[in-house]
Amino acid sequence: MTSPAQDTTWQALAAHRTELGERHLNALFAADPARATRMQAEACGLFLDYSKNRVTDDTLALLFRLAREAGLAERTAAMFGGERINATEGRAVLHTALRQPAGAVVTVDGRDVVADVVAVRERIRHFSDAVRSGAWRGHSGKPITDVVNIGIGGSDLGPLMACEALKPYAQPGLRLHFVSNVDGVQIDDVLKAVDAETTLFIVASKTFTTQETLTNAHTARAWLIGRAGSEAAVARHFVAVSTNAEAVSRFGIDTANMFGFWDWVGGRYSLWSAIGLPIVLQIGAARFDALLAGAHAMDEHFRSAPLEHNLPVIMALLGIWNIDFLDAPTQVIAPYHQRLHRLPAYLQQLDMESNGKSVKLDGSPVGCQTSPVIWGEPGINGQHAYFQMLHQGTRFAPIDFIGVLEHPAHLAHHHRVAFANMVAQAEALMRGKSAAEVEAEMRAAGLAEDRVRALVPHRVFPGNRPSNTLLLERLDPFGLGALIALYEHRTFVQGVVWGVNSFDQWGVELGKQLAARVLDDLAGEADANPHDASTAALIERYRRGARASGH
Ligand code: F6P
Repeated sequence: MTSPAQDTTWQALAAHRTELGERHLNALFAADPARATRMQAEACGLFLDYSKNRVTDDTLALLFRLAREAGLAERTAAMFGGERINATEGRAVLHTALRQPAGAVVTVDGRDVVADVVAVRERIRHFSDAVRSGAWRGHSGKPITDVVNIGIGGSDLGPLMACEALKPYAQPGLRLHFVSNVDGVQIDDVLKAVDAETTLFIVASKTFTTQETLTNAHTARAWLIGRAGSEAAVARHFVAVSTNAEAVSRFGIDTANMFGFWDWVGGRYSLWSAIGLPIVLQIGAARFDALLAGAHAMDEHFRSAPLEHNLPVIMALLGIWNIDFLDAPTQVIAPYHQRLHRLPAYLQQLDMESNGKSVKLDGSPVGCQTSPVIWGEPGINGQHAYFQMLHQGTRFAPIDFIGVLEHPAHLAHHHRVAFANMVAQAEALMRGKSAAEVEAEMRAAGLAEDRVRALVPHRVFPGNRPSNTLLLERLDPFGLGALIALYEHRTFVQGVVWGVNSFDQWGVELGKQLAARVLDDLAGEADANPHDASTAALIERYRRGARASGH
């Protein structure tokens, strides 16, 4: 396998980039009044304006050629068709099957997986209906008021992000809590706030071996038994979501209270599976179906729309242009909607765990830059924190501005202010402000000439900083489903062009292995394992601290 950088289209893009040089977006807009209407795409209730990227029609044509030559059509067909494209783990990649409607057929090793998916969906529907209606009772006969999801990574970020986004659809009187951190503070706070008689714990772990999740789950279990006075209470207060029935039952949860999924669902792609149980409990099964339908609609768009009109493909290729040809090391996600405040964190795992790779599928070096650092916060808060760097820093960071059009009537004024800021930021980053404009402004304000001269360099904005603006018609289950699937496929397309396996995560293993050894050494009197001097000194400092505080 050759590196993408050895590809002739890649080299043509590199030459084209040199030719474009620092050509300013202002000049591109001035020369081409139709640019904004041409560089837009729309599907599944999402509208994308990508005209504020440093590209021309020639750039786009080359990028689409790059995708075609990378075999995007074949790889897409292989993924949707259930081929084992996660080669290093020997697994199919079928999160798209999770959102197929009942009756569709997707086979893996001759077995129709959609039938299995629908069967679990039905069990979840019954269970969630029982909890939401109050028919499911705690050990003392009271209905459930609080649900605590214990999980981490993909078993936390997706459900948490979606539950935050879809709060207006929440069942009144049923509170959701999420515990991921093992430091103890998080579960401690939650346990102090809930009642053992009316709390349901979901232990969510694909593998059911994750140290953080099992540590928190054991704490919760002991807490419940301590309060209920009997192990029998576990059956009314604990359910598991996992692919590992044996470990679930070893932990002490009856597999009758387990909702399964399959090895062909990656953790970071799993919110559509039983891992979405907290979402179902919060918004109900029918609305969860709408979330799946939104994602399915995006799947169909991705599979069938020509590349030139294909939202995930366009966003993926613009990302590659920014990362590999304009040398952008990061990608900002700036939602202008408070309910999307966990989206950047969710996309961090989706993108960085998927494409944070240095070798291609055949093990050879990838030879170009891959996953950017994904970061961000709700944009309006970011404007008062990190946007200074975006406007005037030495590095540029492409941004996805994400806005929502529909809003409650009583919040119309707030919505207008937020929307105005989003659009203005994209405009400001693109157009910048020249020295002449700055000088004229300061002179008009009556500043002395020496002050004007001193301040000009500080007040100039270079502009030419690219962004996408993505507008959702409304933040409802369907719209959210489509938005998440858009980013999933964007990640997939980038992985295909780079030639990496977007579906394994070997990079998380070493830290886990070493943590087990360090844990042993923290508990001992001296190190049983060899460590470098820095690590050994930190371990010793911990032991001294623990001795001083008497444990
Ligand atoms: O350590 C990374 C990871 O394996 C993620 O890929 C995964 O989402 C997370 O841990 C949690 O894994 P599990 O669901 O098996 O507990």
